[in-house]
Order: sequence, then structure tokens, then C-alpha cells
Amino acid sequence: MALVAYSPVAKGRVKNAEALNRIGERYGKSAAQVCLRWLIQQNVVAIPRTSKVERLSENIDIFDFSLTDAEMDEVFAMGTRQGRIVDFGFAPKWD
Ligand SMILES: NC(=O)c1ccc[n+]([C@@H]2O[C@H](COP(=O)([O-])OP(=O)(O)OC[C@H]3O[C@@H](n4cnc5c(N)ncnc54)[C@H](OP(=O)(O)O)[C@@H]3O)[C@@H](O)[C@H]2O)c1
Repeated sequence: MALVAYSPVAKGRVKNAEALNRIGERYGKSAAQVCLRWLIQQNVVAIPRTSKVERLSENIDIFDFSLTDAEMDEVFAMGTRQGRIVDFGFAPKWD
């Protein structure tokens, strides 16, 4: 069974995430690219939505770098209840 990220670039909010930008600077990648890479490195399917052609290219350009285990953990650590943007009533008890 494939797991698909619901809003894989957090509806665009990822671009403001300090940690994602900082990690991205090491690889010449954007915060969104780091976020998408973090997803696919867990074998999570990511289908970001964009209305901009340049972001279509940006969002697919994530296969020429890898996040280290420490960087993966740093992104995992960003998860907070307050940061959740989708939380349906039928969802499991995440926290
Ligand atoms: N969330 C839902 O309710 C829902 C329901 C059913 C299906 N889906 C599907 O799930 C997918 C995800 O949609 P979503 O809107 O929830 O979440 P998302 O893909 O995380 O966010 C889309 C938003 O992120 C921006 N964005 C995309 N790439 C970016 C980048 N590289 N840098 C900065 N901003 C970027 C887009 O703005 P620009 O257009 O300005 O680039 C758009 O506003 C879509 O295919 C959608 O059709 C979503």
C-alpha cells in the first residue's frame, strides 16, 4: 500500500521554514525541494500542486541529492500539533 502526502509542501508554507532553507543551502535546493526529498526518502508519494511552470520544474528536481540521517531527523523534529494544517475528525489520534 502506498502512502501519499496530503499537502506535500504544506500548501506553500514550507518556503518559510528556517530549517528547510538552511538544509537546502547545503545542496543548492529550496525549502520545498528539501521537504519533497524528505518525503520520498521515506517512500512516501508526493504530488505537489502548483500553478507555476517554474515550480513544476523545481518540484521534480529532487533526485540529485540525498538528505543525511541527521537531516531527516531534523525535519521529523519540526512536526508539532500546532504545525498541522489538515486534521480531519476521522483521522487517527496522532499525538
Ligand atoms: N488539500 C486538499 O484539500 C486536497 C484534496 C484533494 C486532492 N488534493 C491534491 O493534493 C495535492 C496537494 O495539494 P495541496 O494544495 O493540498 O498541497 P500542496 O501541494 O502542499 O500545496 C500547494 C501550494 O503550494 C504552493 N507551492 C507548490 N510548489 C511550491 C514550491 N516549490 N515553493 C513554494 N510554494 C509551492 C502552490 O502555490 P503556486 O501555485 O503559487 O506554486 C500551492 O499554493 C494536489 O494535487 C491536490 O489536487 C488536495
